[in-house]
Amino acid sequence: MKYALLLFSALILLSCNQEQDPAISDSGNWWKEGILYQIYPQSFKDTDGDGFGDFKGVIEKLDYIESLGVTMVWMNPFFESPLVDNGYDVSDYRAIHPRYGSMDDFEKMLQGFHDRGIKFVLDVVVNHSSDQHDWFQQSRSSRDNPYRDYYHWWPAEKGEPPYRYSIFDPEGAWEYDSLSNAYYLHYFADAQPDLNWENPKVRQEVQDIMKFWIEKGVDGFRLDAFQFASKDITFPEWPEGHEKDFIKWYGMRPELHDYLREMNEEVLSKFDVFAVAEGAGSSFQDAHDLVDEERKELQMAYHFETVSISRTPEGYTMPELREVLTKWDSAFVDKGWIAIFLANHDNSRLVNRFGNPDPKFRAASTKMLNTLLLSMKGTPYLYFGDELGMTNIDMPTIEEYVDVSALGEYKAAVEQGRDLDDFMKELNYNSRENSRTPMHWDKTKEAGFTTGMPWKKVNENYLEINVENQEQDPNSVLNHLRKMTKLRSDNPVLVYGKYKLIDKEDQHVYAFSRILDQEKFIVLLNFSSENSSLSNPEISSKQEVLINNHQGISIDGNTVDLLPYQALVLKDTE
Ligand code: NOJ
Repeated sequence: MKYALLLFSALILLSCNQEQDPAISDSGNWWKEGILYQIYPQSFKDTDGDGFGDFKGVIEKLDYIESLGVTMVWMNPFFESPLVDNGYDVSDYRAIHPRYGSMDDFEKMLQGFHDRGIKFVLDVVVNHSSDQHDWFQQSRSSRDNPYRDYYHWWPAEKGEPPYRYSIFDPEGAWEYDSLSNAYYLHYFADAQPDLNWENPKVRQEVQDIMKFWIEKGVDGFRLDAFQFASKDITFPEWPEGHEKDFIKWYGMRPELHDYLREMNEEVLSKFDVFAVAEGAGSSFQDAHDLVDEERKELQMAYHFETVSISRTPEGYTMPELREVLTKWDSAFVDKGWIAIFLANHDNSRLVNRFGNPDPKFRAASTKMLNTLLLSMKGTPYLYFGDELGMTNIDMPTIEEYVDVSALGEYKAAVEQGRDLDDFMKELNYNSRENSRTPMHWDKTKEAGFTTGMPWKKVNENYLEINVENQEQDPNSVLNHLRKMTKLRSDNPVLVYGKYKLIDKEDQHVYAFSRILDQEKFIVLLNFSSENSSLSNPEISSKQEVLINNHQGISIDGNTVDLLPYQALVLKDTE
């Protein structure tokens, strides 16, 4: 009887999910074939004048989002939260933070996406919760509370717990709580206690939360910080310096795979949904184990190696980027699938990190980067504002920062006696607040984002870089992105085609092909502010030009001359 009831509720859930969603791809591979657009909700569009973006704002912009040619949207957390880490500290996984609207608004927004054939990906933050979550409040209240084992506790009478590094807290990852005379573990801020995944009740709670949202109609999950979920709960001492190899020590324990298989069996396999892990471990093996279809864990993961090469103001070189992307592609030639991204809410702006923000080159280099993202193998993840070439802001003093990560880094820099001018230069360049500034819709006050006071200052270059301007210009960064999304959606070769470098040595031109059956596309990207030329037997003046981010084109025989940041996609017609 119990089993029959369970089966019945699973069928109801399944039919709800399908009914609300007319856009299910026949191939079942919509998450491979899709193009994802990431929305940072508090900075997208405000409709009630409180200075924070909201669901009604997204609803207002649904046609715009559809016009981008994207087929999936991932939205950062919007759940009930004290907002210590802008929502990555959830105090109720089934409730909406009033800042964003109501559950009714959420449902309308979701329906709006589905009506346009756009899938919705929910951010699931379950490596940790907020310290304000009822589970934690119960857990800390006494050592014999039934929720005690939902988190990791170290009784103080055992002495100081073994050192663990914290990503946000220079004091380390254990916080003393006098209420029960014990320390709790938090890999991020002390307001973000880590959940105890070794406890089956926690895993059951997470599965129930996922089903709750599937019932609402969501199509996918992004599992935040997930590689850290499983821990060795004997908490042994680790050698000094271990935190330098963070993932190896703190993440990807073998048990994580068991928990994912369980999640797959109980949730993912039962519905037409997919899940992507933030973090792909420290080796190809780790990454494969997460996404190998036969292992029945997740469908996708994203690694950080690409964004890691451009962390400092000194920048990166194109050959480094080429090497990283090529290496990761080689890992998934036969099996598995990854996400491709160069920017998100945890990194500074795409054009500052990988392109050239100088007004002379900003548009061309952003178009070139978007060409790369949309012609690589793997599901492209585009970050809001990068379709316009939005740039970093200038925040030279620490007083302007509100991000828990920036404040923690600053505190650590002070404690370590670092040169604070140098530190601030670095922070100004790589702080994630750069990519969280409000969207530039038009030339009106506050870029049309809000009628009130925006929670974060609007970048002053909005008068030039905004949707309104770019809609009118057929050659804008925005319209280039639309051409690229259309090209990708119309041509399976860009989704499934084999990726191959056609030149491995050039210092400026990133040149590769994508081949599927008889079809061959050639992608040529000049990562330089100077003209560059490349001779290669695979390039020919007879090839059809599908994409060109500049006006002119110069191919003579097998030699192409590329203008600064020129991007070409050619089709081999022979
Ligand atoms: C990764 C998220 O992307 C980031 O924004 C957040 O601060 C940490 N996880 C902690 O949840």
